[in-house]
Amino acid sequence: MANTILEVKDLVKYFKTKKGNVHAVDGVSFAIEEGKTLGIVGESGCGKSTTGRTLLRLIEPTSGSIFFQGKDITNVSKKELKELRKDMQIIFQDPFSSLDPRMTVSELIAEPIKLHKLIKSEQEIEKRVLELMETVGLAARLYNTYPHELDGGRRQRIGIARALALNPKFIVCDEPVSALDVSIQAQILNLLKDLQQKLGLTYIFITHNLSVVNYFADEIAVMYLGSLVEKAPVEEIFENPMHPYTKALLSAIPVPELGKKMEENVIKGEITSPINLPDECRFFKRCDQACEKCKGHIPQLRQIKPGHFVACDFV
Ligand SMILES: Nc1ncnc2c1ncn2[C@@H]1O[C@H](COP(=O)(O)OP(=O)(O)O)[C@@H](O)[C@H]1O
Ligand SMILES: [Mg+2]
Repeated sequence: MANTILEVKDLVKYFKTKKGNVHAVDGVSFAIEEGKTLGIVGESGCGKSTTGRTLLRLIEPTSGSIFFQGKDITNVSKKELKELRKDMQIIFQDPFSSLDPRMTVSELIAEPIKLHKLIKSEQEIEKRVLELMETVGLAARLYNTYPHELDGGRRQRIGIARALALNPKFIVCDEPVSALDVSIQAQILNLLKDLQQKLGLTYIFITHNLSVVNYFADEIAVMYLGSLVEKAPVEEIFENPMHPYTKALLSAIPVPELGKKMEENVIKGEITSPINLPDECRFFKRCDQACEKCKGHIPQLRQIKPGHFVACDFV
């Protein structure tokens, strides 16, 4: 039996702004088994990054609870959080803005090791940095180079080495290939996949691009305006999407067999502002199946088939 490594229950994150409460994450629940990948998919602004950061406690949740390896980490102290950071890491979308430009490749990779006093002797640190560079496919000759001297793929490899430096069990990959050239994306995805197998890692893989998670995830959670609207094993999502939003997202994927890219924006209308949301289905304004019944309450995720959950009253 696989073990649940992470469980999130009714996670909420509102940002208070002058215009009102931004419902960035609005009651999200899911669990992930050890060694698996959960893909979180949705348009820009739907709350993917906030979900990832809040469950790592990089952002304080407004409410809800987070369990990691069976322990409630929702309110752990700063000191415990530092300890937890060894097990729970993040890889950012844009390695360039997350890397200090004044530090060399080796300094950047050594930083988390020194911060956590994992290894003390300089020689041992150097050895570990070279080992990590090899693990992520960075040539040893790049040891003293700076991030601006490298291409996007190598910079992302630094980001991955930093995330791996503390031997984590769980990593949130927040759009790790979205800022990269298409030609480099596959290399980084392959690297992440290899690392997962070698090191037994568990991933949350965040992306706005469904075709990326197709290759990567075991399960997919589709997010819209701070809520999950559908969750199912990856093949099931692709073969049997049920929520109108998931269907629309899937129809927006380029179809290689036809040798053409389908229209970018097949979903009518704009994503609703997440400020002070009314009690109605979050997809109401854009759904071509919407009717009066979709107002007045927010449909909850219901299990329609084993492992397949949908938040739509008409499924
Ligand atoms: N610090 C913040 N203050 C106010 N609003 C924020 C903040 N961070 C994110 N948001 C808002 O929360 C929503 C979700 O953002 P985000 O989680 O970054 O979405 P995604 O990663 O899916 O693109 C967006 O409307 C965004 O503008
Ligand atoms: Mg994001």
